[in-house]
Formats: sequence, structure tokens, C-alpha cells
Amino acid sequence: MDIGGVDHGDSRYVQGLKYIRTLYIGDVMAEMEPKEGITNDFVGYEVLIDFMTDRAMYKLQGDIIEIGAFLGGGTVKLARFGKRYGKRVFAVDIFDPGCDKTRDTGGTRMCDIYQAFLQGRSQREIYGETTQGFDNIVTIDKDSKDVEFPEEQAFIFGFIDGNHDPDYVKNDFHLIWRHLVPGGTVGFHDYNFDLPDVTESVNRLIDEHRNEISEVREIEDKHILMVSKRKYTAG
Ligand SMILES: C[S@@+](CC[C@H](N)C(=O)[O-])C[C@H]1O[C@@H](n2cnc3c(N)ncnc32)[C@H](O)[C@@H]1O
Repeated sequence: MDIGGVDHGDSRYVQGLKYIRTLYIGDVMAEMEPKEGITNDFVGYEVLIDFMTDRAMYKLQGDIIEIGAFLGGGTVKLARFGKRYGKRVFAVDIFDPGCDKTRDTGGTRMCDIYQAFLQGRSQREIYGETTQGFDNIVTIDKDSKDVEFPEEQAFIFGFIDGNHDPDYVKNDFHLIWRHLVPGGTVGFHDYNFDLPDVTESVNRLIDEHRNEISEVREIEDKHILMVSKRKYTAG
């Protein structure tokens, strides 16, 4: 398939096909059962939930944040998990499928992939339908560079999958890290995959924050890197 005039290799393209299929199934199910049909997500958020569960991170005090919600399939998975432990899920998304012009190694722009998935439908509307009824989701409909949280806001876990430009990767990391509790984790999507600038930015951030980090864990098959904050900092 040719998206944005570029022929894909099969990494992100295969993901894309799977995702489009999910959306179609979602539409069919939506006719039978309201809105619950579209629950799938791009990344497979179960791996994030397993990570939090294995480390009993739900015992920490704070909420969960996601930057880059797309259609909200992952958001609702986080919200179901969070609900069990009285946690909110802050979902930050600009809801403009045309804005991320970053190209993958095959030359395809992220925005062309999103628009191909959407096929003219409104990202914000689908997201609204998917997340409807989840009262612990706080949607922040903004460019992540314009987001700020009050000092007292604490996060136990954050997932970064928004704009893939290195400036945004850096911005999104700092937005979460400054509110991340000791023992909390930030996960980056697209690590060691087909966006080398993302990988390089993440490596630089890890290097810069080396003294505050207790664990770095790569989930290779999902192209995710988890970076956990030290429980106690020396001195
Ligand atoms: C790869 S998609 C997220 C996929 C989602 N994590 C999932 O697995 O289903 C990236 C998302 O980031 C959003 N985005 C792009 N630039 C952004 C920005 N500057 N601020 C906030 N969100 C942004 C896009 O609208 C898109 O929904």
C-alpha cells in the first residue's frame, strides 16, 4: 500500500492494516452495541498495565498520564485499570491528525498514517465515543507544549506517544518527569523502531537524568522503553 506517496516496508504498515481492520470491526459492532466496539489501541496497552501490575505501582499515590491518545482505545484500558485504584487518567492529545509531519525511516509521515486510518472521520468524535462513560478520564485537548499541571499533581505512570519530533519527545518527558513520584515510570513508544530521532532523544534524556533513574527496561517487541524514577535520591 502507498500512503503519502511512499511505499512501506512492513513494520508500521502491518500495524496500520491491523488497526484499520479493528476500526471496521468497531463500526460493525457499534451498530449492535453502543460505542464499546472500538476498544483496541495502536500499541497494545496491556503491556503497560502488566508493567504497573507486576511492580504494584497502583500502591503509589498519583494518577496516570498518556500523551497521544489517538482514538482513545488505550485510554479506556488505562482508565479501567486506574478506576480500580481510584486513579484518574489524563489524556493529552491535540486531536489534529495532520499535525505530526515526522517521517519514519521509510519516508512516511506520521500524519499520513493517521489520516489513512481515519478515512475522513473526526479523530475527536471517535475518541469521544470510545471514552464515553469513563468518569476518571480527564481529556486535555491541547498541544502538549501548552500543557501545564499544578505543582501538587502527581503521576505514577506516564506514556509518551504524541508528536514524534525530538523537541516534543523532550517536552513530553519533562512534562511528566517533573510530576512523577519516586518509584514511578515513564514509558516511551517508538524506541528502537523506525523513528531513529525518537530513540536518540530518549537516549539523551536518559543520559541527562541518569542520577534520577533506577531502572531502564526495553520491551523490544512493542518498541517501548520504560524509565523508572529512583525511590530515593542520594544527598
Ligand atoms: C501514534 S498516535 C497515538 C496512538 C495511541 N498511543 C495508541 O496506541 O492508540 C499519536 C497521537 O499524538 C497526537 N499528537 C500529535 N502531536 C501532538 C501534540 N503536539 N500534542 C498532543 N498530541 C499530539 C496525535 O493527534 C495522535 O493522536
